[in-house]
Amino acid sequence: MRLGGTIGRRRLLAAGGAAFAAGAAGLSTADAARDGPAPGGAVAAAGGGLARAAARCGVLFGSAFDTEALDHPAYGELIRQNSAHTGNLNSFKYDWLRSKGPSADFAGAERLLAFATERGLPFTAAVLVWNDYPPAWLKSKSLAELRYLFDAHIDETMQRFAGRVAAWVVVNEPFAPWDREPGGWRTGPWYTAFGPDYVARAFRRARAADGRARLILNEAFCERRDLVGAAVRPALLALVERIKHAGVPLDTVGLQGHLQLQHGGFDHADYADLMRRLAAEGVDIEITELDVDDSAMKGTADRRDAEVARHYEEFLAAVLQVPQLRGVTTWGLSDRFTWYHEVAAKESPLYPRKPRPLPFDEALRPKPAYFAIERAFLAAARRRR
Ligand code: XIL
Repeated sequence: MRLGGTIGRRRLLAAGGAAFAAGAAGLSTADAARDGPAPGGAVAAAGGGLARAAARCGVLFGSAFDTEALDHPAYGELIRQNSAHTGNLNSFKYDWLRSKGPSADFAGAERLLAFATERGLPFTAAVLVWNDYPPAWLKSKSLAELRYLFDAHIDETMQRFAGRVAAWVVVNEPFAPWDREPGGWRTGPWYTAFGPDYVARAFRRARAADGRARLILNEAFCERRDLVGAAVRPALLALVERIKHAGVPLDTVGLQGHLQLQHGGFDHADYADLMRRLAAEGVDIEITELDVDDSAMKGTADRRDAEVARHYEEFLAAVLQVPQLRGVTTWGLSDRFTWYHEVAAKESPLYPRKPRPLPFDEALRPKPAYFAIERAFLAAARRRR
């Protein structure tokens, strides 16, 4: 991971408002044949571990990864064993593809995609358009240049990976109430270029360049019981209603699911209700970036592990009640490779306590969170029978 290069960067999730196939193991060959090959031509591999448990209730489980899995074969193997699909953490983002200027370096993204494809894992690329993390060189561009760069990025990137990735997060995090823009929109270069219309434009252009990839609109914060959550939930629902009624090619709404206790806790019933309302607009739902931040938890590692596990189980119990939930993806799989190292290091370079937000520990051993996630999937499978 490009840890060093990101520590000093502007935004981490907590900042600002005060702060994503068939064929997971458990499905028969007949099931897989009926559902057909995954987009991208690859037939989904049989996942084990958490993916097998999730398949029992018809949900695709996976973990996002990046170059750390290429550098640590045991970690790559753990991802494969537990995933029925996967995707990137960073390497398909604009500021990673085009860090030095408009011309893209796709080498890192291609390496990740090759890893997934060789293992038969359908791949979700993330993200195509995000107003956060603009590369420094973009900041001096004129309005006309921004508009040109937006279209050119979508056309080149989508055409390059067409037929090879199963899905794209086309727009990430459209709302950021603390930017104080009418409607709660997140400001940034693409918002500057087109206003709120950038969302519909991105989806239409993405579909024109790749007619098969599932197109995802991804948002954060919706699980939060604070003012940010209260502002983002209706804004997201209104956006989805508007663009679906306008015929914009949106297939899936992704809800990130970075569970962070420090923002007033969660209302899982409200959250499941939002999922049902979104699904009523004719979209699938995915949990795209699940993890449980333990930074606000007190006590020993064992105690925090138990609390993290409980939050995974309660959250999954609620969201697995929504039939349109098709996938759950965790933002990494082992505590060794979580983005919360970056978050903690930003607070204090010598951060004293290692974050423990994921199902496996630093030594790749399953934690209580692993068993809690497995229990939640198996309980949902029993309910659905
Ligand atoms: C994070 C990555 O995990 C970090 O390595 C990177 O420095 C910043 O982005 N919401 C998102 C993800 O949509 O793209 C973010 O990923 C985490 C929060």
